[in-house]
Amino acid sequence: MNVETSVPLAPLTTFRIGGLARVYIPIHTEEEAESAVALARDRGLPLFVLGAGSNILIPDSGFDGVVLHMQMREMTIEDRGEHAELIAGAGALWEDVVDAACVHGLHGIENLAGIPGTLGGAAVQNIGAYGAEFAPVFAYADVLDSTTGAKRRITKEEALFAYRTSTFKQHSELVITRIALTLKKNASLHTQYADLAQVVESGVALATPADVAKVVRAIRARKFPAGKDEGTAGSFFKNPIITQALAASLVEQFPGLPTFPLENGMVKIPLAWILDHVLSLKGYAKGPVRLYEKQPLVLVAQAGARSADVDALANDICARVYEATQITIEREVETISAR
Ligand code: EPU
Repeated sequence: MNVETSVPLAPLTTFRIGGLARVYIPIHTEEEAESAVALARDRGLPLFVLGAGSNILIPDSGFDGVVLHMQMREMTIEDRGEHAELIAGAGALWEDVVDAACVHGLHGIENLAGIPGTLGGAAVQNIGAYGAEFAPVFAYADVLDSTTGAKRRITKEEALFAYRTSTFKQHSELVITRIALTLKKNASLHTQYADLAQVVESGVALATPADVAKVVRAIRARKFPAGKDEGTAGSFFKNPIITQALAASLVEQFPGLPTFPLENGMVKIPLAWILDHVLSLKGYAKGPVRLYEKQPLVLVAQAGARSADVDALANDICARVYEATQITIEREVETISAR
């Protein structure tokens, strides 16, 4: 196990923001994960599990604890008759998982193509895009409980997936080492999401999971910043889930506001629409951080921006949204406390 101290975290994140890790340990095997967890416990230091750093805002003051940088990437696909089981290390890159599924013609995650991050991060966050979510393909996760060092298997029922959250997000003491996914050999493709439906209407034939993945990547490339000089972590806020009564009054006030009724009677609304049509904030900047011109839910930081700059813009946006709509928005990007 390779233990380093005072390691800059900014280069390990897509925001390219943040200070130093007191202790940094790259994790290549389950044994290394166990040793790292034991080291943090012995020294009484908090633990933070870093994947590809694509959904995290690290404070300028860094992390005064042990960062486990997940590099466990081995992957196997096993035939189970009607479906296949893909089992991979938590540090496997999500794009590699999607590619492996597509190469084998397996269904279930093709709409989630192009999302930066790791397999472990996909579970923590229950990633979702273009009408699909991670939760339905999850079979189980092997975890280490960092408070006891015990190994456990978390089943689908225990994982408590919901919109951009899970047991793993609520219980940061659980360090995921391996994840199994159930992928179907035959299934219909999901192309109802507006952006995808448009492509189908334009005459592009989508026949396989690989076809869908290709189109989704092209759509994402148009919507998300890819510049090397700018940092981002994708959608910075969650789409708000509000009561039917509030949704009805907002639609009356702001005709055209799209609404997505949920099974539990609540209504999800696109915050991007509020930022765009209600508040006209596309491209709105505060110092080196701004709302991306093509998708205002995405925050973009210029090189050299600090976490305090992001916080300043984010707090400003929260206040403006609340003033206009009475909605208290929440961050989607994970923020770790400096401690
Ligand atoms: N919209 C506007 N103006 C804009 C952009 C969007 O009015 O400039 C409105 C449109 O009505 C559009 C709606 O907002 O139909 C939704 O926009 P979009 O399809 O771009 O998706 P989103 O709700 O803003 C969510 C996820 C993304 C995911 C996309 C695509 C969250 C927080 N974000 O964004 O996930 O890629 O859907 O499915 O749920 C992420 O989590 O980091 C992320 C990028």
